[in-house]
Amino acid sequence: MKGLILSGGKGTRLRPLTYTAAKQLVPVANKPILFYVIDNLAQAGIRELGIIISPETGELVQEAVGDGSRWGAAITYIVQTEPAGLAHAVQVARPFLQDSPFVMYLGDNLIQSSITPFLSDFQREELDALVLLKEVDNPRQFGIAEVNGQGRLLRLVEKPQDPPSNLALVGVYFFTPAIHPVIDTLTPSWRGELEITDALQNLLRSGKKVGWRRLEGWWLDTGKKDDLLTANTLVLDTLGQRDLQGEVDDASQITGRVSLGPGSRVVNSIIRGPAAIGAGCLIVDSFIGPFTSIGDGSRVEASVIEHSVILAGACISRVDRLEDSLLGRNARVARHNSRRSLQLLLGDDAVVEL
Ligand code: DAU
Repeated sequence: MKGLILSGGKGTRLRPLTYTAAKQLVPVANKPILFYVIDNLAQAGIRELGIIISPETGELVQEAVGDGSRWGAAITYIVQTEPAGLAHAVQVARPFLQDSPFVMYLGDNLIQSSITPFLSDFQREELDALVLLKEVDNPRQFGIAEVNGQGRLLRLVEKPQDPPSNLALVGVYFFTPAIHPVIDTLTPSWRGELEITDALQNLLRSGKKVGWRRLEGWWLDTGKKDDLLTANTLVLDTLGQRDLQGEVDDASQITGRVSLGPGSRVVNSIIRGPAAIGAGCLIVDSFIGPFTSIGDGSRVEASVIEHSVILAGACISRVDRLEDSLLGRNARVARHNSRRSLQLLLGDDAVVEL
């Protein structure tokens, strides 16, 4: 069994963060989303992994993930020159996949459950494909499944105008090589992509065994700011643990599940978990509230931060209250008492809500 992780694409919905980084590397609880994907595959015993990368962000992904030895995995990087669709990515990966069955896992999908039980079902029932489904509130934004009263999968359709149900395709799929000839007959969809949903629909129509399971536990497609903040909250809440490797002075107070990386210092501050603070940070005269992640090398001074994701190298000074915020790498937010006007230097597509 091989694993194919899709870490290409454009990441337009997470701009401006994705102008300079891959969306799959955006951290949740200070760990890149892609690492949770690799964790899940490695824990299921899948250690031969192919990662689809784009020419724009591929190098960053390779730098972050390396050769996979951290997971006991062997990684092959596969460049997809343009984001021509999920089925196109499978086509490009054919020399890596050969005739092996494989799990395709979208690099921006975060799921709470282990994939191990689904893998066992897929193998035991000798299915040609197995998909995971979950109810969503906005079915027009996903691949959607129609299932009859007896639980038989009838139809799969990508981002339908008129959704037949609210059961969405989760970004984890199990395939045998039977998917390859079907992909070879696809033509681009209305959005110009070779859709894996169309391939699955054709597989179903040709009488192959396509199974489905309902995914329990949370699932987040982390492509947007609010989804990312929710993911951060859920991961901190379920996986967070107390691990204080930095220094905390006597005037500070730390409560709940807080992780503090090596070389970080907390001075005259309160940190209330669940919260994750990276390595080499300085937190002075501040309050860091629940559900906050702060990346390596950040500096927070005389500020209150809650329910936010702050990427590495940020600097926040004298900010009365920052909440529900997502700050990119090396972002600086500072208040100067003497000035009543706002003085901003904002990148393309930045958002400021006052
Ligand atoms: O998240 C689940 C949904 O993912 C499914 O319900 C849909 O059926 C499926 O089509 C997909 O929809 P999205 O429109 O959300 O896919 P997106 O373009 O965001 O791409 C998903 C991941 O795959 C992302 O990490 C980027 C990567 N990708 C995408 C394309 C189009 C590639 O590596 N290559 C590509 O060509």
